[in-house]
Amino acid sequence: MTEFDFVVVSNRGPFTLESRPGGVVEFRPAAGGLAPSLSGALAEEPMGSGSGVLWVASAFTEADRLYASAGAVATGQDTLKLRMVAVTPEIGRAAYDVIANGTLWFLHHGLFDHARRPCFDRVWHEAWEGYCQFNEAIADAVAEQAATGATVVVNDYHLALVGRYLAKSRPDLATAFFTHTAFCPPEDLAMVPDGPRLELMESMSCFGACGFHTSRWRDAFVRCASAVGVEAPATFVAPLGADPARLDEVAATVACRSRLERLEAELDGRTLLLRSDRVELSKNLIRGFLAFDELLEASPQWRGRLIFYARVYGSRESLPEYLAYRTEVEHVVARVNERWGESGYVPVVLDLEDDFEATVATLQRYDLLLVNPIRDGLNLVAMEGPAVNQRDGVLALSREAGAYDELADVAIGLNPFDVTGTAAAISSGLSMSLEERRVRAAELRRRARSRTPAHWLAEVRRAARVPGQRGPRAWGQAGD
Ligand code: F6P
Repeated sequence: MTEFDFVVVSNRGPFTLESRPGGVVEFRPAAGGLAPSLSGALAEEPMGSGSGVLWVASAFTEADRLYASAGAVATGQDTLKLRMVAVTPEIGRAAYDVIANGTLWFLHHGLFDHARRPCFDRVWHEAWEGYCQFNEAIADAVAEQAATGATVVVNDYHLALVGRYLAKSRPDLATAFFTHTAFCPPEDLAMVPDGPRLELMESMSCFGACGFHTSRWRDAFVRCASAVGVEAPATFVAPLGADPARLDEVAATVACRSRLERLEAELDGRTLLLRSDRVELSKNLIRGFLAFDELLEASPQWRGRLIFYARVYGSRESLPEYLAYRTEVEHVVARVNERWGESGYVPVVLDLEDDFEATVATLQRYDLLLVNPIRDGLNLVAMEGPAVNQRDGVLALSREAGAYDELADVAIGLNPFDVTGTAAAISSGLSMSLEERRVRAAELRRRARSRTPAHWLAEVRRAARVPGQRGPRAWGQAGD
């Protein structure tokens, strides 16, 4: 079995495999979020004398599952091999739906509606067992294929327990765990039952180092460890960057140019307010539409002249909360359109198609980009927008997004819970002088293009270490 010097691990891999007629299997790039960023960074990895990089990920589709027994498979990218890990559908659902997305995601983003949830009952405790088994299966695949002393970078809350299994089976490995989400404060972690809470913090502390997008989430993690009496491992801060080269490449395609032309025709000279997100509770779509409604009410001059384009695509639709949220989003949009629409003017365009060329076209064209998450690890859209925008567009950004820490002085900050305040932030952004727009947009663009996923990956790789070794600090580390 080939042994790899560098292994990256994430729940969702870079490709989803689809079976086509005639036994053909198609590798389709994964949409949105971490996978494309990590793929971009890995494409720049030098082959060196080793065997390249192994990406270990969870099998989602039937075709993924078929490939799981094939070990490390070629991906078409010279330096990269992929190893899919399949667990039973029951374990998969318990780990992904119940624990990762239904519990840890809600916990870290402050999304629980405390009168009803969380509810840690027998079913939940059984699901926790599934989460443990899933993490163990992923750790076993890594342990099987990592060379002696290899570096292993594990991503996100789906895989928080991998550290403890690896520390046991492969203590020679240099490991880092990177959390792309926010991290909850100890008061929220206290809701999790004692056993799982301790397991979670102890397991994260079994990695050589734990990394976060901002010092806010890192500090919360360290406080959580201390609250349960666990010694935190080395920690580091390394924000992910947009991928300007990839965005420029997409912007230059015929598909993207034709979408931009179509958009211009639709806008017909109107001002464009844009959001670009998954249909996701933490992204705070509904308050964004309510703010737009208040803006049109308070500022009649925008009626008929401002279009709110919401490029959003479905996410995690196996969870009832997400399905209900999507329905609620559709209702709110219908209400706003009914109230302010007129012949030839649809105020809110809800575009649910997952089409990256269309996303890049709208990012190039916006006058104001609204990014108002309730809480967000970083929010890459806040970087991608300014990186490709061509109209000195304004960024209205939630103070609860990790990206705000880097962009506070050039974006218009907003409180994501304050609908009236969000309407005011949009209004002040739209009435900003051209000169101020130009100056801010130039600085936003400079910052958004200065860091790439390759910078991020190099820093995470440098921070990885054998558990228990507290060697020199990695970039951006303020304290262990
Ligand atoms: O932001 C956290 C994250 O887990 C990303 O790593 C990922 O790209 C995104 O959420 C999407 O998650 P899912 O795989 O559930 O669609």
